[in-house]
Amino acid sequence: MAKYKMILDLDTGIDDALALAYALADQDCDLIGIIGSYGNVLVKQGTQNSLDLLSLLGAGSIPVYEGLSHSSTTSSFAVQPVSARIHGVNGVANLEITHTSTKVASQSGIDFLIDAIHKYKKDLLLVPTGPLTNLAAAIKQDPAITKLIGHVTLMGGALTVPGNVSPVSEANIHQDPEAANEVFQSDIPLTMVGLDVTTRTLLTQHETTIWRNLKTKSGDIYADLVDYYIAAYKETNPHLHGCALHDPLAVAAALEPKLLETVYLNMKVDTQEPYEGRTIGDETRLNLPATTTQVAVNVDVERFVAKFMERLTSLFEKN
Ligand code: RIB
Ligand code: CA
Repeated sequence: MAKYKMILDLDTGIDDALALAYALADQDCDLIGIIGSYGNVLVKQGTQNSLDLLSLLGAGSIPVYEGLSHSSTTSSFAVQPVSARIHGVNGVANLEITHTSTKVASQSGIDFLIDAIHKYKKDLLLVPTGPLTNLAAAIKQDPAITKLIGHVTLMGGALTVPGNVSPVSEANIHQDPEAANEVFQSDIPLTMVGLDVTTRTLLTQHETTIWRNLKTKSGDIYADLVDYYIAAYKETNPHLHGCALHDPLAVAAALEPKLLETVYLNMKVDTQEPYEGRTIGDETRLNLPATTTQVAVNVDVERFVAKFMERLTSLFEKN
């Protein structure tokens, strides 16, 4: 029996698609639902991508809920050209993945999250791999959830390395710095899995060839997705020699925290220029005990990539 219930909050682009596959493939994980977010794509596109990928992977019965469509401080959202370049205009490498007839669930993503936290309490893990808008809205609506939930392991931020959308800011945090700051300042138990560690975990065409050789539909589609992502990384991050496994690392670390070395630190997010979106220690809480927020500073790359390949390859073999 699975050890944990998990909810993913995804802005479904390519590495989110890998995170979704990892959660489905890990025996310790019972994925009870996905919340759609905006970021790599508009919220409706991301939600549809999640529905279609679940169906591709034989998991069409897992519900997908729509989250908020823009940040807490704006009235609309437009996809940045760099996101479209890295993930494709539709978030899934411009591939035409078969649309499932399954529809998005009628309950809002925020209400689903709050209800699930009350139901599963410490057994529930939340992994946000897009902006923190939905989680901040849930905390605002029901502050009690911060003490009930098991753990939040989020992909976002950068403590010891530069950002990827500005010199100081990582994309997910930059989409909604105010929401991220509210989450970091709350007492929710969380681990920040940022660029410090995610840009050390890389995939190359060596691995996508293994999936292509399976000669299955999902193996082919995931190989196409990741080859597109690798090509984009070759342009935007040539020094990495591969593509970064940002979002699946957060899922893996939620299930096996020992993959990471972390430091406990009371964090804040700067919300104003020139440091808008910077994730950094909160000087006003530096002398208070840091008990709920951990920041990942190192990762067991070999163990993670081996687990990632073992799980995804066996999932693609069956679909
Ligand atoms: O900065 C990397 C993050 O931004 C990943 O979650 C990617 O999917 C995008 O959302
Ligand atoms: Ca993402």
